Amino acid sequence: MLERFGHGGDWATAEESFGKPEAGWLDYSANMNPAGPPACVEAIFRERWRDIARYPDPAVRGLRRKLAETHGISEESILVGNGAAELIDLAVRGVSPREAALAQPSFAEYGDALRKAGVRTKELPLAAGNGFELTAEMLAGLKLSEGSCVFIGHPNNPTGRLVPADALAALRTSRATLLIDEAFIDFVPGGEEASLLREAASSERIVVFRSMTKFYAIPGIRLGFVVAHPKLIARLRELQPPWSVNFLAQHIGEALLGETDYAAKTMAWLAEERPRLVAGLESLGLAVVPSEVNYLLVSLPEDSPWNAKKLQRRMAGRGILIRDASLFAGLDGRYFRLAVRLRHENERLLAELAAALKEGAGCDGEA
Ligand SMILES: Cc1ncc(COP(=O)(O)O)c(C=O)c1O
Repeated sequence: MLERFGHGGDWATAEESFGKPEAGWLDYSANMNPAGPPACVEAIFRERWRDIARYPDPAVRGLRRKLAETHGISEESILVGNGAAELIDLAVRGVSPREAALAQPSFAEYGDALRKAGVRTKELPLAAGNGFELTAEMLAGLKLSEGSCVFIGHPNNPTGRLVPADALAALRTSRATLLIDEAFIDFVPGGEEASLLREAASSERIVVFRSMTKFYAIPGIRLGFVVAHPKLIARLRELQPPWSVNFLAQHIGEALLGETDYAAKTMAWLAEERPRLVAGLESLGLAVVPSEVNYLLVSLPEDSPWNAKKLQRRMAGRGILIRDASLFAGLDGRYFRLAVRLRHENERLLAELAAALKEGAGCDGEA
């Protein structure tokens, strides 16, 4: 299976599990901007590669300064990390909550970080019936004591839903620390207004994670940042290994913040392609959870002979990787997740899905 190490986009495991397609994989299992990295990234590799002979700035000053300017917050409220994944782990150790509430399904690293830190976790089950939305009513029933935390994706992965404003208001009035993962919020039109980033910079109870790897398609370089009260940021910096953010990542991050055309083109592409892909999937008899981002949670009909695991294997045979979402706690075997990609790629995906589903589920002897 593709998710042996917990995530999609794992090409090495895909090749071990399914073999290597001649034309390479078309990857719908990781939620990356299909435009690929902006041109400035290549320029930095070409022009700055000799500088890797020096240590990177351990305080990531240049990028923190630019992030502070971009978001209108202080540099002391920002810590840059080797991807948001590193910062999620650091923040759980730095906040050191007594217990945690965790929406399910959600990104597996939240639960893993809490488990590694020995934090007792309460589940907050999201329901298919309302499109997996986190509601204020659900939170009202949750008893959160001083010293507890709530970990949520805003928007959530794999559901693609933002946390509604009234649920955020309910969370703010609780006594818990809010750990809010905004790794995909750049893909949401008006996402900055929905974001808690500015509030986090001065609040002692809100921590916001951002990733730069998805929107700018640079997962291989690893880059993210966390925004929180300067006191917590200082604690997290002490826990972080030195030089965690390499030289190229720091310079790439600075350049990306000026990529306004790339950002505008990305939003225009997504506004066109997501509804087209949703319509195509629905025409194949699949149900799609309404999404605010660049990925879709999709389910097979209840009476389908298929399950996500079988479909993943069959699609891999056709050179396409999809994410088996039944591995997310709270989802059953019918769920899979797809990125939104370029028009011609989405058309190929739909054609291959249609052909695979028509072939029948049982013909490769897979359970
Ligand atoms: C919801 C969510 N948060 C955070 C991350 C980690 O992002 P990064 O590549 O910046 O470590 C991922 C990666 O898939 C993710 O899906």
